[in-house]
Amino acid sequence: MAMNVSSACFSVFSCKKPNRIRAVASEDFASTAALKTDTEDKLKLGGSELKVTRLGIGAWSWGDTSYWNNFQWDDQKLKAAKAAFNGSLDCGITFFDTAEVYGSPLALGAENSETLLGRFIKERENDNPGEEVVVATKFAALPWRFGRQSVISALKDSLNRLGLSSVDLYQLHWPGIWGNEGYIDGLGDAVEQGLVKAVGVSNYSEKRLRDAYERLKKRGIPLASNQVNYSLIYRLPEQNGVKAACDELGVTLIAYSPIAQGALTGKYKPENPPSGPRGRIYTPEFLTKLQPLLMRINEIGGNYGKTPTQVVLNWLIAQENVVPIPGAKNAAQAKEFVGALGWRLSNEEVDELRSLASEISPVTGFPVEKL
Ligand SMILES: NC(=O)c1ccc[n+]([C@@H]2O[C@H](COP(=O)([O-])OP(=O)(O)OC[C@H]3O[C@@H](n4cnc5c(N)ncnc54)[C@H](OP(=O)(O)O)[C@@H]3O)[C@@H](O)[C@H]2O)c1
Repeated sequence: MAMNVSSACFSVFSCKKPNRIRAVASEDFASTAALKTDTEDKLKLGGSELKVTRLGIGAWSWGDTSYWNNFQWDDQKLKAAKAAFNGSLDCGITFFDTAEVYGSPLALGAENSETLLGRFIKERENDNPGEEVVVATKFAALPWRFGRQSVISALKDSLNRLGLSSVDLYQLHWPGIWGNEGYIDGLGDAVEQGLVKAVGVSNYSEKRLRDAYERLKKRGIPLASNQVNYSLIYRLPEQNGVKAACDELGVTLIAYSPIAQGALTGKYKPENPPSGPRGRIYTPEFLTKLQPLLMRINEIGGNYGKTPTQVVLNWLIAQENVVPIPGAKNAAQAKEFVGALGWRLSNEEVDELRSLASEISPVTGFPVEKL
């Protein structure tokens, strides 16, 4: 269901949902018009018919207690997550990414992210009937899951938790140790059974991506996307052939951890590193090496009236064929993301930032990328 995205954002941190675009003073018309166009313009995911906003919202932290939220989930965090969901929609961002394993019941005190997203959608629907919410979720390729039927049965469980009869995008979260052909066949079955609009993979290498693409193509089903770790400081997809293969095949690259889990926002400093598991990746030593890049990002952002977060998301969008899905824990974070749209870094700035970033050794990624 397509939201009437008349909800362009008129300031960086506050979005309202006007019925129509406001009248603008002539001197700010150009920039407002550009912003409206860019937030309203949607991108087709690969060769599928599914259209998504140029930026989506990641819902991993919603309900999670194994990586995020300092191992605790409470009512305040729940309210903040719901506000992130509503704030995104108020700003015209309608694409949400979750997974069956986010907020795993195996983690103490966790709430499942799909269940929360489903609840947020339902609660929102009352006041906004017909509003578009595009939902992507993922199948966990656990070693005891075999065959195409395992994909359908996991998908049906996800649909139950989401309270939906179909999802827009269903992705294989990572390649399995075995059984991958069956999983791809299961994706195709899900399309044919009308349970999903589009299918994708995640953490797939160039070879796996090409194989999956070809296997689905034989059934006339396009592989819509490959969701991989991609940010200014984690450019593996540029180096391992994944980005080039996505561009060549017409598969959209969905960029996860696009703000390096907060490290690229500039709020974490060597004397103030992130807490929890993130602190083991973004150490004081790493954050010290990051400072020159962050200073330049800040300077460039200043010239456009943009925050570092908006600059690094814009850098990803400038790579073309890339949809970043930053995670938002609250409304302010979600609303800040929208300011990444509607303007462009110059080519020189894009190159300069890549070159500065290449002086920093990348952090370790999710090992499943190498499966
Ligand atoms: N397919 C996969 O294997 C995979 C793997 C990882 C992620 N993902 C997907 O990608 C999404 C995003 O990745 P991610 O959550 O790992 O990392 P991310 O988007 O790079 O970082 C998200 C974190 O940055 C901080 N943040 C967000 N907005 C901010 C802002 N405006 N200013 C300052 N800090 C801000 C928040 O944490 P604090 O406020 O606590 O700092 C937030 O939880 C996930 O939610 C998930 O949907 C997929």
